[in-house]
Amino acid sequence: ARSYCKGEYQYTMNRCPLCPGVNNVVSDCGPQQCDILLIGEAPGKDENAKGVPFIGKTGAELDGHYLPLAGLTRHECRITNAVHCLPPGTGKLDYTDTKHAAMIRSCAETHLYRAIAECQPRLIVPMGTAACSLVPGLELDMHWAFPFVWSVPGYGDVPIFPTFHPALGLHSNKEMLKLRNCFIRLKLYLASRLHVPDNKYPTPDYTVVTTVGTQAVQTNRER
Ligand code: URA
Repeated sequence: ARSYCKGEYQYTMNRCPLCPGVNNVVSDCGPQQCDILLIGEAPGKDENAKGVPFIGKTGAELDGHYLPLAGLTRHECRITNAVHCLPPGTGKLDYTDTKHAAMIRSCAETHLYRAIAECQPRLIVPMGTAACSLVPGLELDMHWAFPFVWSVPGYGDVPIFPTFHPALGLHSNKEMLKLRNCFIRLKLYLASRLHVPDNKYPTPDYTVVTTVGTQAVQTNRER
């Protein structure tokens, strides 16, 4: 049997003010303080039953497929969720639904920001739209696998590396390839070998002056 909680901190958690109060509260898992904090969406049925995040099918994908591409194991990361209990009904979260968005915010204000302060991560990896919806200015479709900075309420700026949610690959090969790219790029980023353009797309600044050898080369606009 796989051990998910070796040397881990046991978290006791209250319910947030907007908690539906139907399912169990699933605490974080992993070291209390560590370099990397992974944020998922919400527990599924398996996680609700066992009280540990990412231990079902999606967790197996994360552990066995995606984290290894980044050169990581789950034991070196603290793992949490945007929402700490299985959403009643379909079990799905839709951050564009105002009720769900309020729940995500309320749960983050009760648990997540405190967990970030406790963990003091060097990097946060928000996985999927629910976790990414908490980061102002971040659009997952545009910023996936693109380093970003999150001003965490009550804590401060932390580098983040947004990825798609690891469950996406279970439904579509195309999404799985995008996920693989996320985690391969994460490995490069962790090794400081990821090329990140200085200018944010889609409005690159072409007036940048670059030195090539001993010659100053001026690009487009000023020619
Ligand atoms: N998916 C998530 O987002 N979190 C879990 O804990 C499990 C599956």
